[in-house]
Amino acid sequence: MDTQKIISFIASDVEARLSGEGSGHDWWHIYRVWKMSQRIGGEEQADMQIVEMAALLHDIADWKFHDGDEDIGPRIAGEIMGEHGVSSDVIEHVQLIIRESGFKGAPVEPSTLEGKVMQDADRLDAIGAIGIARCFAYGGHKGRVLYDPAIEPVVMTSKEQYAKNTSPSINHFYEKLLLLKDLMNTDTGRKLAKERHQFIEAYLEQFYGEWEGKL
Ligand code: NI
Repeated sequence: MDTQKIISFIASDVEARLSGEGSGHDWWHIYRVWKMSQRIGGEEQADMQIVEMAALLHDIADWKFHDGDEDIGPRIAGEIMGEHGVSSDVIEHVQLIIRESGFKGAPVEPSTLEGKVMQDADRLDAIGAIGIARCFAYGGHKGRVLYDPAIEPVVMTSKEQYAKNTSPSINHFYEKLLLLKDLMNTDTGRKLAKERHQFIEAYLEQFYGEWEGKL
């Protein structure tokens, strides 16, 4: 079977598994990361087969929030690729990318170009207009308030601290979203992140202005 066909089969498989997931790791997140990975990967001359499969499979275990089991994602991804006859060297590379890709406290720099491309695309989906929408959607899902001027943002240093965080959604902009532009791996990713970062800064200015009845 040709690679494009395998990729579209994997895409349908992932879409079927993730449809209806409401916390921000739904199919449309995967779709956006996939599209952005194609764009960044093309500009950075990455191996597109690896990049596309990694983008499609990077959050495959998140649909049920498996507590702390970090191997389940790479394992399910491996099973799906295996079912579609993907070669073992490709499977292993994609599994490595999935392992390296999460932002759960201390960030890990991916060891391959394809991993860097996929991580940039994933991080870009957390900033800009989509990032803002996802941040509030996730906060609502967790029962968080939009903003509380009395609660200061905290910079998180561990995965446990990150998981337990209950601060208002606006704090999450300082705790995660605004840090992402300096964590981009590729030139293409950096350029896009800079634009989305500026959009968030403008949004925050408007938000505080409206909060105090000034805008
Ligand atoms: Ni993701």
